[in-house]
Amino acid sequence: MRKYNNNCCKVQKITHPHITRPRIMLAPMEGVVDEGMRDFLTSLGGYDRCVTEFIRVVDKTYPPHVFKRYCPELNNGCRTPSGVPVYIQLLGGNPVAMARNARKVSKMGALGIDVNKRPRASAYYFK
Ligand SMILES: Cc1cc2nc3c(=O)[nH]c(=O)nc-3n(C[C@H](O)[C@H](O)[C@H](O)COP(=O)(O)O)c2cc1C
Repeated sequence: MRKYNNNCCKVQKITHPHITRPRIMLAPMEGVVDEGMRDFLTSLGGYDRCVTEFIRVVDKTYPPHVFKRYCPELNNGCRTPSGVPVYIQLLGGNPVAMARNARKVSKMGALGIDVNKRPRASAYYFK
């Protein structure tokens, strides 16, 4: 991936085993970017990945229907009808509960987990 500096003259090569070019991600927005919006926007083209609205994790491990409510695409290989991957966003600060929910939804077919934790967020994906 190449990153442009402020005056857009030089490029800095960032090496990462899985990122070979710039990616365009559809930002998660609670109450805005749901399944229907993901379907519509990805049908227009240009998106490399979507992320679900956040699923708040406190301490319990959710049953499958909860994950499918936020991510109906789990029934479609975790992709929008246009084929764009959808990552599941988990929000919380309890690492054990986050890991248990991540493992559960990965077994359901999630292609990746977007971890929304304070103070920083990060994304993990499955090959
Ligand atoms: C209404 C609304 C809902 C949002 N919901 C989420 C969310 O569920 N998860 C998340 O990580 N970010 C959420 N965000 C943050 C956005 O994904 C985005 O990171 C933020 O708007 C900053 O975007 P920008 O850096 O392009 O300005 C939300 C933002 C808005 C305005």
